[in-house]
Amino acid sequence: MEYRKLGRSDLEVSAICMGCWALAGGTVWGDQDEQAAIGALRTAVDVGVNFFDTAEGYGAGASEAILGRAFKGMRDKAIIATKVSPNNMHPADLRAACERSLSYLQTDYIDVYYLHWPNWDIPFEETMGEMLKLKEEGKIRAVGCSNFGVKDLGAMLEISHVDVNQLAYNLLFRPIEYEIVPACLASDVSVATYSPMLHGILTGKFATLDDIPDERARTRHFSSARRPMTRHGGPGAEQETAQAMTRIREICDEAGLPMAQVSLAWLLRRPAVATVIAGARSPEQIKSNAAAAALELTDDMVTALNEATEPLRVAFGTNADMWDTGENCRIR
Ligand SMILES: NC(=O)c1ccc[n+]([C@@H]2O[C@H](COP(=O)([O-])OP(=O)(O)OC[C@H]3O[C@@H](n4cnc5c(N)ncnc54)[C@H](OP(=O)(O)O)[C@@H]3O)[C@@H](O)[C@H]2O)c1
Repeated sequence: MEYRKLGRSDLEVSAICMGCWALAGGTVWGDQDEQAAIGALRTAVDVGVNFFDTAEGYGAGASEAILGRAFKGMRDKAIIATKVSPNNMHPADLRAACERSLSYLQTDYIDVYYLHWPNWDIPFEETMGEMLKLKEEGKIRAVGCSNFGVKDLGAMLEISHVDVNQLAYNLLFRPIEYEIVPACLASDVSVATYSPMLHGILTGKFATLDDIPDERARTRHFSSARRPMTRHGGPGAEQETAQAMTRIREICDEAGLPMAQVSLAWLLRRPAVATVIAGARSPEQIKSNAAAAALELTDDMVTALNEATEPLRVAFGTNADMWDTGENCRIR
């Protein structure tokens, strides 16, 4: 496993981070077997993954609680990132949320504490003031933001440095390349990429877009007229997505490599990306995902993947909100 420094912090995190949202089960993911979840977390450690991503919002603490149980007695093996939800960004709420997360995680420190989404109704100064107090008290080791575009990131950096910005990024969704990645590079802010397999779609497990269940067809790739769980209300980009998927499948087949690993390895070569947050629900999945860190893609393959996804890159433009558009866009 390769390890990379996170921002200006002293944390050396694995290039593959294990995403723990699905471990909470729920509407999007369906039932999750707890033993498989704990097995996946411990297998992750065995294969060199030291970075784990969760949030208070994932199953109202359920995902954090599974990490707490899995890492009891082996806390030093895990660098744990969790996130405070936007409705808890008033200083007193933030402190209470942090204490709750510590309790679910059965630990006395959080390695990386993220603001999950910006809350524009509460001045960043107030939220960050409390964050920095929590850091001084040793309850947090590093501060991160998530879903912060250039405007919000710029405003945040005037208050305090953040070591990492967590954003949606995958072969089928590349808006952060335009403005956000350059802004992160210019300020020593690492990028942690979420949904690197677009909720599992980039594993190749769905033969056509029609085979993707509605719970996983909520992003701007899908038309709101056909997909009831989308929120953008627009036409989607199904044609470009289907064409890109066909070509990605061909490229992976020609190379004899699994699409999931290729999707992760492609991200690991992109500028500013320190770690790729790959969701996994079983020991087999995390083993396969961790192996992507050692996969060398040829330059020709990377070029072919870039070309295959260029029409989608143009179609989505600079809006880095994978779900919403226009005045409802939550990333600015
Ligand atoms: N900051 C944010 O706003 C935000 C938003 C979304 C996600 N995240 C974070 O990012 C993480 C990853 O994102 P994501 O869960 O949306 O999507 P993802 O990593 O693109 O996809 C994960 C899903 O794909 C399937 N999968 C994983 N590895 C596989 C493999 N090797 N072979 C076959 N299938 C495999 C699993 O589901 P099945 O087995 O059920 O198919 C898994 O739950 C989350 O867990 C969370 O920590 C953050």
